[in-house]
Amino acid sequence: MGAILQDVDLQAHNTLALPARAEHFAVLDELSLLDEIRAQFSAEQIHVLGGGSNLWLPERVRGLVLQVALKGKTLTREDADHRYITASAGENWHDLVLWTLAQGWGGLENLSLIPGTVGAAPVQNVGAYGVEIADRFHSLTAVNLDDGQLHIFTADMCQFAYRHSIFKRPDAGRWLITAVTFRLPRVWTPVLGYGDLAARLASGIPTPVEVADAVMAIRRSKLPDPAVIPNAGSFFHNPVVEQEVAAALKSRYPALPVYPQADGRVKLAAGWLIEQCGWKGRTLGHAGMFDKQALVLVNHGGAVSADIAAVCAAVRADVLTRFGVSLNPEPIRW
Ligand code: EPU
Repeated sequence: MGAILQDVDLQAHNTLALPARAEHFAVLDELSLLDEIRAQFSAEQIHVLGGGSNLWLPERVRGLVLQVALKGKTLTREDADHRYITASAGENWHDLVLWTLAQGWGGLENLSLIPGTVGAAPVQNVGAYGVEIADRFHSLTAVNLDDGQLHIFTADMCQFAYRHSIFKRPDAGRWLITAVTFRLPRVWTPVLGYGDLAARLASGIPTPVEVADAVMAIRRSKLPDPAVIPNAGSFFHNPVVEQEVAAALKSRYPALPVYPQADGRVKLAAGWLIEQCGWKGRTLGHAGMFDKQALVLVNHGGAVSADIAAVCAAVRADVLTRFGVSLNPEPIRW
């Protein structure tokens, strides 16, 4: 670990490129250094930073921003049905996906090109194109920042749900995920339930690399590259409503995309609702909703947290007025 720095600019550490200053900042590249940090900061004072791709930062962050830079990835075990891959929390997510594909191991290809780190991926159970982390998850290790103890979490313990896990619960304590073990099937079958993906791979059975290439092409066609146009991916969750609510909306708006859930409720496409309200490509101040995917809030340059709040509030109000549906922001706020 380098020194604990004071008053550090976080603009390059969050993909929305919000100007934010951390009171203290340190890089955790060895787990043993956590004792020293815990001696100086309480669990409540520590903000764990991964790739900063799902963050909505205030202009000042009190306490310590701790960037997890633990590295390493390895095949830890194989049995008749699965390969178990363990990756340290600071590994780049997409690099891990590419590495597994280079070894000839399928399973993570639908999750190609998602920004962020391995350690952040289970926190909101990242998902795309029909696969989510929970589907390929075996276990993770995390340090309880209150007492410094290392714990192992199984999938059940993580309480994965749509864009959710125990690590997002305010009452779950403060945890620093150190490594994640994924379970990849030895007998691979492509997951092609997402319409655009099936359309791109219409001829024959694709390889994992071909699925990854198709996913990357789809993402590049509608999602902005944060290095070019700062953003945090989907800015709102897709709202999940009761079946009766979805049925009433669907009868008024037959084009509304709906996705029935296992629990009987129905997920609605927030991007569609936002587009119908005229927000696709619309700007307010220095921020706005992206012109190719209305669910993505983009910083057009110079946006501060208040600009994000203004766009967020305006979009939520319009969707609520028109459809009676509440949207909730996805990025984590410190
Ligand atoms: N749609 C519109 N207008 C828009 C955007 C979307 O009409 O501006 C419609 C689409 O035509 C489609 C439906 O809404 O019928 C769903 O759109 P899309 O397939 O683009 O997916 P999404 O529901 O908007 C979710 C995830 C994405 C993930 C994609 C693909 C959430 C909050 N977002 O978006 O995740 O890549 O599905 O699986 O669940 C992210 O979390 O950062 C992210 C990009």
